[in-house]
This record gives sequence, C-alpha cells and structure tokens, in this order.
Amino acid sequence: MSQILVKNIGLLVTNNPSLGSTQLGILKNAALLAENGQITWVGDSQSAPTAQNVIDADGKCVIPGFVDSHTHLIFAGDRSNEFSARMAGQSYAAGGIADTVTKTRAATDDDLLANANRLMHESLHSGTTTIEIKSGYGLTVIDEERSLKIAKQLTPETTFLGAHVVPSEFKAKSNDYVDLVCGQMLNQAKPYAKWIDVFCDRGAFTPEQGRKILTAGIAAGLKPRIHANQLEQGDAVALAVELGCASVDHLTYFNQSDIEKLANSKTVATLLPGAEFSTRSKYPDARKLIDAGITVAIASDCNPGSSYTTSMPLMIALAVREMFFTPEQALWSATKGGALALQREDVGHLSIGAKADFVILRESSYIHLAYRPGVNLVEQVFLHGKSI
Ligand code: NIG
Ligand code: FE
Repeated sequence: MSQILVKNIGLLVTNNPSLGSTQLGILKNAALLAENGQITWVGDSQSAPTAQNVIDADGKCVIPGFVDSHTHLIFAGDRSNEFSARMAGQSYAAGGIADTVTKTRAATDDDLLANANRLMHESLHSGTTTIEIKSGYGLTVIDEERSLKIAKQLTPETTFLGAHVVPSEFKAKSNDYVDLVCGQMLNQAKPYAKWIDVFCDRGAFTPEQGRKILTAGIAAGLKPRIHANQLEQGDAVALAVELGCASVDHLTYFNQSDIEKLANSKTVATLLPGAEFSTRSKYPDARKLIDAGITVAIASDCNPGSSYTTSMPLMIALAVREMFFTPEQALWSATKGGALALQREDVGHLSIGAKADFVILRESSYIHLAYRPGVNLVEQVFLHGKSI
C-alpha cells in the first residue's frame, strides 16, 4: 500500500463544508492522509495518524487540484499572427478556426500527441489534475476520430466537437455537414468520446442545428455540453437546459430569461475568462449568475485561437480582477465547479474517498492566487497520491 501524509498545512481547502468553515470547507493547522491514491483521513495536524511517507507543508496552503473542464488541446501550429493583429484592433471571429483546421489535418498523429502532451505537462505543473479535451480541429470523419483517439490517451474526459465550425468544403452546405456530424462522424467518434458539444454562435451553428447534433449525440450514448453566446446573445441557453447539458460554456452574453432557466436547472455555467482576455472582449457579468444561485465553473479554454493558456491560476486572477468573483468563489469555481461541470464526484474536493489530487502552494493562502498574478505559486502537485 502506498501512503502519504501531508502535515502542518496552514490552510487546507477541502471544498467540503461539513469538514470546515465556509463553502471551501477550510481547516487550519491540518493534515491529510492519502492511501492508494485516495484521501483516507483529513483533520487536525496534531492528531494525524502515522504514515510511510510524511511531508511537512510548513504552514503553507493546500488546495484540491484544479479541474479544467474546457480545453481544445488537439491541434497543430499556432495563430500568433492572428493574436498580434487582434491586439492591433482586429476583432475575433469564429473563422480563425479554419486556419488551425488546415494545420491539424496536415499533422501526423505523433505531432498532435506531442503537442497535446506538451500542453498537458504545462497544465499539470500549474496544478490541474483533471482535464477535459475536445476534438474540433479535424472536421473530417478521419481527423475527428484520430483527434479523439489521441485525447483519450490523455484523459477520460473527451468531447466530440465535430460541430466546431462548418469546414470550407461544406461552405453554403452547412446542413449537409450537420448530417455528416450526426451520422458517420459521430459513429466513428463515439468509441473515444464521453461528451458531445456544439459551438452555437455567430459564424458557427444555429440552435436548430445544435439541437440536431446534441440529440444525435445523446441517442448515441454521449452526454451533452455546449459552447454558447461567446460572440452574441442567442437562444442556446434554453436549448442547453432543455436537453440537460452538463454545462453551457462561454456565456459572455446572457439575458434575464437565460439566468432564470439556468437557476432552475442542473446545468453549470462555465465562464472562460482567458477567452475574453485574449480576444480583448467584454467579460461576462458573472455576479449576476453567482447571485442567482447558478453553479459557476471557470476553465482555461486552452486553444490556439481565443485563449492560448493552460493556466488555471491565471483564470482565478482574471475571475477575481475582471469578473468580480471573490477569491473564494474563484477557487471553488476552478475546482469543485469544474468537477460539477464534468459531473464528477471524485475530484474537485478533498473529502474521504476523493481522489488524492491536490496542490501545495508556495504561500499560506489561496488568496495569493489572485493577489500575486503571473507568479508560479504551485510548489508541489499530487496526482492520485503521487508527487509529479
Ligand atoms: O472555445 N468558441 C469556439 N471555439 C474556441 C475557439 C477556437 C479557436 O479560435 O480556435 C473557444 O474559444
Ligand atoms: Fe472552447
């Protein structure tokens, strides 16, 4: 049996309110024990059990590993020139995706895997211990299938996003492309995918097309989630709630009816502040969602177009500074919120029985994640009870 005890934790965030104070379930002067990759004991450091391996956290803060519930890591090349043009005043449009599609189709499987591994490494070392990965830069049957095969080597949280945009060879024939996505593409993607997603927005798919795609995915045994309202207000939130999507992602725009629908549903609102940051767009009014009691997650949206970063600490800093989350809410949204967006009960918290996925920060408080932006505060990451 492998055993590791972390003691002298100045501040332990469990995300289990029955274990400690506030929504974060905070314990002071705490310890946690991990056995065979699971948390088996949490409590006062003074009364901690003995263990094979002991780590002294020296008063620092320990948090659950981040759950990044929205990334697009399977692609080739970058779009730094597009970013540069945007910073000079050009606006972001869904059309940029086509450039990455061309490069992705031309790449070998090994190239795609190596690139995704490089980003996974970044992500893990910045504290992310659970990650979702989408396809969506292949947009042919074969390229979507291989994208998902590669993604599945890296995470169980894989998402089929054949409906990212309409590829150029289907220009003016978007319904034919939707038929392909719902037919042969879905058939070949589904062995490697847990989720189905569609980008419902200006320049991408209509809510009617979105309904067709998600319904086909659900019938094939996949679970639905959606990209919605990044570029403009639309009707996709109603669709997401009606179809029982685990999460509606982006939500840069929303109206009162969207708020009411989300508040009366189990659908999580996943905000992606990296996209607003990198496309120089307005940030969503997150307080309205939080104050309405909606479950809000934050994720990196890592992709080469709208948010080329794997850093969840940056998302926390942006959520606090730009979207008026409190530091507590931002940390919760980056951990437990992400777990709820992926319908995972075993991650995003440090209760007994949870996966022993946690991070020792270099500081005594999680507040520093927002207070000291751009600084690497991750001292040590534990994945299934093992230091990486
Ligand atoms: O989530 N919104 C759609 N898809 C990605 C952007 C993809 C790209 O620009 O390459 C997103 O932001
Ligand atoms: Fe995305």
